[in-house]
Amino acid sequence: MVMKNDTGTTATFKRFSPCNNTVTIFVNGREIVASGRDTVATCLLVAGELAFQYNKASGEPRGPYCMMGVCFECLVTIDGVPDLQACLVPVEPGMRIETQKGVLQGRDT
Ligand code: FES
Repeated sequence: MVMKNDTGTTATFKRFSPCNNTVTIFVNGREIVASGRDTVATCLLVAGELAFQYNKASGEPRGPYCMMGVCFECLVTIDGVPDLQACLVPVEPGMRIETQKGVLQGRDT
């Protein structure tokens, strides 16, 4: 399956098998049905969301790179808490996830 996000970028992430344990989350207000066993980053990628944050200076989109908590390219706001690493946070029903413009607290990227 090939998906396009709202910036027109093509994503090629897909599940190998159907998911039996689904949860509903909201990404920038958009409702997404995701696997209840995935991390937030995985759910966003499968949903075609590639830009998790935008560089404050250049405006360039940033997205997950390492998927293991090292690069800090996957920062998002979850339920009002900014700068959380989406690759390390397990998804929970009803989560409200917002993409960010740069790092909101602490060091900027
Ligand atoms: S993808 Fe690298 S820290 Fe999350």
